[in-house]
Amino acid sequence: MEKKNIDWSNLGFGYQKTDYRYVSNYKNGAWDDGAIVTDDTITISECAGVLQYAQTVFEGLKAYTTQDGKIVTFRPDLNGERLEASAARLKIPVFPKERFVDAVSKVVKANAAFVPPYGSGATLYIRPFIFGSDPVIGVKPANEYQFRIFTTPVGPYFKGGAKPITIRISDYDRAAPVGTGNIKAGLNYAMSLYAIVDAHEKGFDENLYLDPKTRTKIEETGGANIIFITKDGKLVTPKSNSILPSITRRSLVYVAQHYLGMEVEEREILLSEVDDFAEAGLCGTAAVISPVGKIVDHGREICFPSGMEKMGPYTQKLYDTLTGIQMGSVEAPEGWIHVIE
Ligand code: PLP
Ligand code: COI
Repeated sequence: MEKKNIDWSNLGFGYQKTDYRYVSNYKNGAWDDGAIVTDDTITISECAGVLQYAQTVFEGLKAYTTQDGKIVTFRPDLNGERLEASAARLKIPVFPKERFVDAVSKVVKANAAFVPPYGSGATLYIRPFIFGSDPVIGVKPANEYQFRIFTTPVGPYFKGGAKPITIRISDYDRAAPVGTGNIKAGLNYAMSLYAIVDAHEKGFDENLYLDPKTRTKIEETGGANIIFITKDGKLVTPKSNSILPSITRRSLVYVAQHYLGMEVEEREILLSEVDDFAEAGLCGTAAVISPVGKIVDHGREICFPSGMEKMGPYTQKLYDTLTGIQMGSVEAPEGWIHVIE
C-alpha cells in the first residue's frame, strides 16, 4: 500500500479529510450493520436532537505504525467501554464495544494510506461519535442516531511538541459536581470554548479547572488529565468523579508502577499543594504527555523545577515508555495493542 504524499513531520493537530469513514444508523430500536463509506458529509433535519439539545458523545484514539511496520491501535476496547458509558448518560442507545473495536479496525484499515510512517512524529487520529439525528423539539432523547468514525492524520496537540507549556487556573468550570464531567460529551467542550479562547488571547496554552463544588482541588484541563511528580519521584494524579477517566492516565499509572517501579497516588490534590511538586504533565490521546512548566493562578506563578526548556526526568521516562509501548519498541502488557494489519 502506497502512503499518501503528506508532509507527515510538519502536521499540526487539525482535520484533513481522509478517503473513508464508518457509518452505522440507529432506527426502530436497532443499529444497522454499518459500512465503510466515502461521503464525508451528513444531511439531517434542522430539528435533529444533536442540533437542538447537543445530544452527542464522542471518543478519540490513535492508530500508530510500529517499528516493524504494523498498524496498531492502543487499548481501543477501553474507548469502546467509555463510549458506552457516555451514551448511556445522555440516553443515547449504546453502540456495543465489540462492534466499536471492529468498526475502528475497519476504518483504519480502509485509510491505511493515511497512517503516518514510524518515526514521523505523526499518528492517525480516530474520532468515533454518535449523535441524535431525527427531529426533537420537546426536551427528550431522539429516536434515531448515527454512529460515525472518521480519521485524520495529526501531529502534536500543543505547538512545539515536547516543549513545556504554561497553563492557568480557570475562573470558569467545565463540569458540575454531579454533571457530565466524567463522560466524553460534546457539551463539555462547548462549555470550555469561551475559557480557551480567553486563555489563548492572554498567552496561556490551556485552562486548568478546579473542582466545581469547592474550587480548591485540581481537576483536569479542557482536553487532558493532569499528573504530577513529587520531589521524591512519586506520581500523583487527581481522583474525582467529575473528570474524564483518561485511558492515557490509567495506562501511565500502570506504566509507573509496573515498568518504572514508581509509587502512585490517586487522590484529591489541593491547589495549595501544587507548589511542592517537581514536575507536571497533561496526559491524553491528543496531548500524549505534554509537560507543564508553569501554572499561573491569578498572577501567582507556580514554576516547576523541571523548567520551561524540556520535560522533567520522570515525565520523560513515562513518555518514552508509553510511546515505546504504542510504537512497538517496548513490550506491551497483554491486550493493550490491537494489531490492524
Ligand atoms: N480529559 C479530557 C477533558 C479529554 O478531552 C481527554 C481526551 O480524550 C482526556 C482527559 C484524556 O483521555 P484519553 O487519555 O482517554 O484520551
Ligand atoms: C483526545 O485526546 O482524544 C481528545 O478528545 C481531546 C481533544 C481536546 C482533542
